[in-house]
Amino acid sequence: MAQFFPETLIQEIMDKNDIVDVVSSYVSMKRSGTTLKGLCPFHKEKTPSFTVSSDKQLYYCFGCSNGGTVINFIMQAENLDFTETVKYLAERANVDLSRFEGDGGAETTHLRSIIYKINSESAKFFYNCLFGEPGQAAREYLIGRELSKGIINKFGIGYAPEGNLLLAHLRQQGFDDNSIIQSGVVVKNDEGNVYDRFRNRVIFPIIDRRKNIIGFGGRVLGDGIPKYLNSPETAAFNKSYNLFGLNFAKSTKDDYLILVEGYTDVISLHQNKITSAVATLGTALTPEQARLIKRIKGEVVIAYDSDEAGQKATKRAIELLAGEDVVVRVLTMGDCKDPDDYIKKHGKGAFENQLINAKVQIEYKISKIQEKYNLSNIDEKVKYINELAAEFAKIKSPVEREVYISKISDETGVSADSILSEVKRSLAVTERKTKMEAFKATASVGVIKNINPKKANVIRAQKQLLNLISIDKNIYKMTINNLSDDDFEEGTIRDLFNELKIIYESGALPEVKLIVAQASNAAEIAEILHDNQNITDKQLAAKELIGLIAKEARLKQMFKAVKDDEIPSGQKLLELDRYLRKEVGNDK
Ligand code: GTP
Ligand code: MN
Repeated sequence: MAQFFPETLIQEIMDKNDIVDVVSSYVSMKRSGTTLKGLCPFHKEKTPSFTVSSDKQLYYCFGCSNGGTVINFIMQAENLDFTETVKYLAERANVDLSRFEGDGGAETTHLRSIIYKINSESAKFFYNCLFGEPGQAAREYLIGRELSKGIINKFGIGYAPEGNLLLAHLRQQGFDDNSIIQSGVVVKNDEGNVYDRFRNRVIFPIIDRRKNIIGFGGRVLGDGIPKYLNSPETAAFNKSYNLFGLNFAKSTKDDYLILVEGYTDVISLHQNKITSAVATLGTALTPEQARLIKRIKGEVVIAYDSDEAGQKATKRAIELLAGEDVVVRVLTMGDCKDPDDYIKKHGKGAFENQLINAKVQIEYKISKIQEKYNLSNIDEKVKYINELAAEFAKIKSPVEREVYISKISDETGVSADSILSEVKRSLAVTERKTKMEAFKATASVGVIKNINPKKANVIRAQKQLLNLISIDKNIYKMTINNLSDDDFEEGTIRDLFNELKIIYESGALPEVKLIVAQASNAAEIAEILHDNQNITDKQLAAKELIGLIAKEARLKQMFKAVKDDEIPSGQKLLELDRYLRKEVGNDK
């Protein structure tokens, strides 16, 4: 359900969730003044470039340009969308959101929150049973599967004993039978008797991205049937919208998610520090899960079981994910049953090698290209072949290339020779392009040497000026007396200048974190408004910055006049170069 939250609520949520508090539970940081510094949670680094400003309530990473408010931080760190993040932070700060729930929504929300509590209590119970007397056999089973104590704790693995002990425990905790039944951890039979759903099974809690326990998977200790028993669908558990392990994998620093079939595959990979593994919940991949994945990573590595069912499921998953524009790669388990088996037999290194070497599915690419064209139309068929040829031209192995060419030839009735000559043509075009670019890069090097450093300088100056404008009305006035909005770089910078202008002209003062919160490009804005400078005389600094920007604006006009004649000839480049040196001075 799409929800609209008023600005005052967003403000309240930001006020009550101090960014330093929130970020501190993810990143360990050192403070100096109002700025804190630590290792960025969003990219791999060895020296800290992640900063948080306690007075502006913003964060920014100079290494990966990720930045924004506490809301942006949680969206990234927990991989939640905006609405989910608002709910998450509201919960954290005890802000009541029920006034924003639609009709009927409040009731489901209430039931859901009771189920979370029952599930959480049940998970504790199962965990305690695993390490208590009844858990002996289950402990041995897990040891036999080489699961460490650490990973058992991390995934909250437990054991459901025989009998109806969980039911008794939950009643004793004060939960009513109706809620317990609705949670799915017990079953009510036709005679009206209520008993524990999971008996003598190892229990894997299923946890969503907001860290709620939404259900359980229970495995028999040996070879019994059914091998797995899962929680039923409840107000809190929808199998098609969740993935096992996503609560961890959403924060992986890898660029992809690894999609596996089984709970034990996920756990085994995580135990080996392969942190991007997720599994479906005992069903085939659903379109909703494909969309969920798309929101988190643009790339998936499928590592399904090697049996026939697994291979069939792989094809289906490729199609679904390709349909969501997710890049797909596939691993093969060779002589092993599944990833868990593979990593035990061949080790973590072999699995990681596969991960590095797996190629993007060419089938995936073909299917994406095919979708665009109506192949019964001759013109479109020609375009289809041309586009495929460009793709085939990138394949290094001639043998592999030939396989695909003959496949497409069979499919389209176009001779393999014609396709091959199209591929060769495409190869020649690519080569020419590469050479052309190399040539251009050297030809204009003289001018670029002058322009580029200056351009970087001027953008930095504009950003610094915007930073000063945002905290000082006098500097704003100074700026509009000397510069106009088209002196600012088009895009984010100019938009931000105009936004600040609107705020000042309306008689208000800018509230930095609110500007960032409302921006679609929060990271860029946070970078600009973040206090990363120790300027003592702000007026003087502003004056210098304005001077520099004005000078550059004049230069830009000149440059544009020359450039408007398409690519400038060598002569023009020389003229411009001379002009730059003489009129503007050559910053080295
Ligand atoms: P291990 O054999 O213990 O390593 O488990 P696995 O996760 O490798 O199991 P398997 O490859 O047989 O099945 C993959 C996934 O399908 C499991 O993790 C379950 O989610 C699901 N699954 C398997 N068997 C059953 C079953 O009998 N019932 C249900 N509902 N789901 C099952
Ligand atoms: Mn398996």
